[in-house]
Amino acid sequence: MASKQEQLNQINAKIAVCQKCPLAKTRTNTVPGTGNINTDIVFIGEGPGKSEDEQGIPFMGAAGRILNEMLEKIKLDRQDIFITNIVKCRPPKNRDPKITEKNICNTYLQQQLALINPTLIIPLGRHAMEYFLPNAKISETHGKPQVIITATGKSQVIYPLYHPAAALYNPRTKLVIADDFALIPSLIKKYKNV
Ligand code: URA
Repeated sequence: MASKQEQLNQINAKIAVCQKCPLAKTRTNTVPGTGNINTDIVFIGEGPGKSEDEQGIPFMGAAGRILNEMLEKIKLDRQDIFITNIVKCRPPKNRDPKITEKNICNTYLQQQLALINPTLIIPLGRHAMEYFLPNAKISETHGKPQVIITATGKSQVIYPLYHPAAALYNPRTKLVIADDFALIPSLIKKYKNV
């Protein structure tokens, strides 16, 4: 049986050659996700931007710096968590990913989540949240853990947060994000081994 890391490498290898949607034509690099596969926490953003497309690593630009700052406040770093996106290739000019692109790319996300099996899934922003909670509003749901039953019948805790990019132009949103991040350590304790 392949190790967890080998299985992740196999998923990454499939993503690296993926041609299933038009984003393959305009990407520089695929951005499969990075971090610790034995983590309790998976963060999920919307899709790679320019810096991420150039480097093949999620959250490397301005939003990534906010994410790092928030992680630091709760004494976590990127080695402690796994970070990925709903779509693994950059939408041109950072437009929103299309429904078809999200649906096609979801198979990779499902494989990653099944492998990592985190205690907490943290969707960052509306697009990522909608994947798990299609009818929710981020303004109402952020900072509130939700227990869902996944397609495979597993109970899973989803903790939606505002996207870190929302903090770039709004200091008040940054405070809200920081408050929501502050709950993460206690949520891990609460839901681990439940
Ligand atoms: N925004 C995202 O949602 N994901 C990234 O990887 C970078 C910016």
